[in-house]
Order: sequence, then structure tokens, then C-alpha cells
Amino acid sequence: EWAAACTVRQVLLATPRSFCAGVERAIAVLDRTLAGADNAVYVHRPIAHDGHLLADLRRRGAVFVDDPAEIPDGAPTVFAAHGVPPAVRADALRRGLPVVDATCPLVARLHDEARRAAGRGDTVLLVGHAGHAETEGILGQDPDRITVVESAQDAERVEVTDPEGVSYLLQTTLALDDVRDVVAVLRRRFPALTGPAPDQVCYAATHRRAALRAVAAHADVVLVFGSADSSDSRRLVEVALRGGTPAYLVEDVGAVELRWLSGVRTVGMTAGVSAPPRLVDEAVVALSGLGARVREVGGAVTDRPSTARPDPADPPRISA
Ligand code: F3S
Repeated sequence: EWAAACTVRQVLLATPRSFCAGVERAIAVLDRTLAGADNAVYVHRPIAHDGHLLADLRRRGAVFVDDPAEIPDGAPTVFAAHGVPPAVRADALRRGLPVVDATCPLVARLHDEARRAAGRGDTVLLVGHAGHAETEGILGQDPDRITVVESAQDAERVEVTDPEGVSYLLQTTLALDDVRDVVAVLRRRFPALTGPAPDQVCYAATHRRAALRAVAAHADVVLVFGSADSSDSRRLVEVALRGGTPAYLVEDVGAVELRWLSGVRTVGMTAGVSAPPRLVDEAVVALSGLGARVREVGGAVTDRPSTARPDPADPPRISA
């Protein structure tokens, strides 16, 4: 069907795209844990947003749970990249669950910083989405002192105990342009505000966003591969649209509608931090098979801080 109607001559691939280093590492850790387990391996929260990947992991014995109480005693348990609140960790220890902790090192660093700032008496403002797994993990470090700030309006309203003792942290899956306005309000209201050190900021979403902008500037249409559940993927669509390029969020190549490509010569493609490379690769195979040239765009930046490199051979284990 595509072959008859296809006018696409060029595919521009945003680089970087797809899984961030932390998610890639967590998947590799789960992969190894499944390979060595005789029974089901329980995973706290989904490890990525991809139906095919999750279905495959389920087939191999992974059971994804939101509530740790669903994990049977003695069952091997993996904590996914976004981390868990201390209460979940403590409960796992108390129950003697064999835990493999695949928390992204950058998220673990945020947990440390949240505790440090709360420990010196600061009110800690976490710029992020309430209810997100990572936000809950950070909030849990000191629920009395940490408050989620979701928007500039929240930042205008939030109350603190002492304006001289206020810190903020950034949810890692947000790009810096998502949080700029919020941080500006916090800085205006609390001039003594302390922010995260550069090595406590994750640039994965920011770099994907920048690469997509470069792609969208030269594309007739942009396809963002990923799940509608992923706010990061939805934001990538918005970024292309705001630049004036039509853009669609698609689960996989099968969901691409032919009419989107009608008369199109250049297609831009990307995928969010929790979407697997396979989704883009399949579309590339389909279009290059019809004669389109494929070019990578961006790539000048790296989002692979040394601490977040996949090291599935030596996943940190929890011990009592
Ligand atoms: Fe991914 Fe870790 Fe950043 S999980 S989004 S590399 S903090």
C-alpha cells in the first residue's frame, strides 16, 4: 500500500532519540535477572512505555506491579530506573525480598540531594509531575519537607517555612525548557534559592528535544514514536507543532496513516526516552525500502553520563 503512494525521498532521524541510558540499563538488568530466574521476577512499575517490549518481558516471566504489596514473599524483585521511595525499599528489606536495584544513578543522586537539602532544614521544591513514579520516589525521601511544584502557577502559590532555606530539584524526565518558567518564578520569589548542581540534572529529554527541533525545521511532517502514556513523547509532538511542522504520535509503524505522508518528501522521526529504538527502526526499514535516503540529524551532544552507562553485569543489589 505504501509503495504505490509513497513520495517520501528522505528520512531525517533525530539523534539522540529513544531510550535514555537509565532506561536502557534497567532493561538490561531485568533481562539478566529474568535469564537467571526460575520463577516470576516482579518489577516495581513498568520499565518502559512499549506494549511489545512489556508483553515480551511478561512472556519471559516479568510481572509489573504498582503496589509492592502484590509481590509474594521471596520473589525476586527489580526496582525500575525511576527509583522507589525509601518506604518501599525498607519494606522489601524487611520482607527479605531478593532485590536488584536498577534505579538510574542520576535518580539515585537526586534522592541523595533531596535528603541532604531536607536534612539541613530546607523546604525542597520538586519541579515535576505529581503522581509520576520518579516524583513519588523523590517525595518519599522526606514527605514533610518536599513539595511538588507542577507549574508556574504552583510556583507563585507555594508556601515555604523560611524563604532563606529553599532548594529546588528537577524531575529528570523533563526537558529544561519545560521548567524554565517555573524556576524563574521560584528565583523571583526566593532569591536565596539553591538549585541542583549540573551533575544532578539529566539532559536526556533536553537533548532529544533539541535534536527534534533541528529535524522538524527541515521536515514536511514529523512522526514521534512512543506511547500516548508518555508525557515526554507527547511533548515532542508539541515541540514540532509549535515550530509549524505537522506531527503525529504513533505507537508503531503499523499506526502510521498514509494520508499523513501524502505529497511528503521529507519525514522527520524521533522517539521519547521510554520508547525502544525498534519503533523507529521499523519505520526506517519500510521507508528506505521504498527508496528514501536516511540521515541522522543532531548528535553533537551526548546523554550518556558515565554514571548512567549500562552496566548490567554488575547491577547494585540491596542488602540488609
Ligand atoms: Fe533516563 Fe536516568 Fe535521565 S532514567 S531520563 S537517564 S535520570
